[in-house]
Amino acid sequence: MKGIILAGGNATRIFPLSKSISKQIMPVYDKPMIYYPLSTLMLAKIKEVLVISTPRDLPMFRQLLGDGEDLGMKFDYIVQKVPNGLVQAFVLGEKFIGDDSVCLILGDNIFYGQGFSEMLYRVQLHIEGAYIFGYYVKDPKAYSVINFDLDGKVLSIEEKPVCPQSNYVVPGLYFYDNSVIEKAKKIKPSTRDEYEITDLNRLFLVEEKLKISLFGRGFAWLDMGSLDSLLDAACFVATIQKRQGFYIACIEEIAWRNGWIDNEKLQQLGKKMGRTEYGKYILSLLT
Ligand code: G1P
Repeated sequence: MKGIILAGGNATRIFPLSKSISKQIMPVYDKPMIYYPLSTLMLAKIKEVLVISTPRDLPMFRQLLGDGEDLGMKFDYIVQKVPNGLVQAFVLGEKFIGDDSVCLILGDNIFYGQGFSEMLYRVQLHIEGAYIFGYYVKDPKAYSVINFDLDGKVLSIEEKPVCPQSNYVVPGLYFYDNSVIEKAKKIKPSTRDEYEITDLNRLFLVEEKLKISLFGRGFAWLDMGSLDSLLDAACFVATIQKRQGFYIACIEEIAWRNGWIDNEKLQQLGKKMGRTEYGKYILSLLT
């Protein structure tokens, strides 16, 4: 399975912060935002990752992440000239995906909870059609909303409805088999002039090939579209890390635990950042 991180967009909702740099490169407590979605792909044991961003921001991601070799991974990069919707990830990424299945994650989404790695690993092992998730939020209007019947069967999904039929929304983490490429090409722009992921998921739903798992109350999903959510996410990460001492989204640690890099490599990576708490944490894993 291949992974795609979509880190495009203009993030006008957090201007002037994002006026000259990508939102997804900004700090979420102690690391750049993109580390969080990248770590999710790594927990799903996905080694080949495509980063899609704007012509302005892509070089910065390349500088930050390189070719992936340091993590025993492989990173590719593609420009999205116009931020015209998530579905374009599969059209732009067609060559990268090849004959494989694919997981798309949005560059501003953080997932955290017990059992998450195992869940991701299981999903990516047997992907047929589409696999998405549902999460209960207080205010669902800004998201893709899932409508269920009384037996819990999914009836429909709607993008940013004015009158949401439920509080369950679809987070920015999507698994698809290879048919996603051809389906993505069929999607037409919405009234907000975007190629909507919800329209794509609907194609799988009508074919009865859309699976949805719900995350429970103890699970954390945060997206960082606004200033407040950016601050909330940073506080969340800081709270967990300080309390437990385990780091969230330490990509070097995950690569090492996945067996993609050895002790020597981990030490080398840790030493480069040895003056920071992050670097010290990496080095502490070896003792
Ligand atoms: C996008 C998707 C939406 C999804 C959300 C999750 O919204 O269009 O379906 O629920 O991400 O973060 P957008 O970021 O375009 O507002």
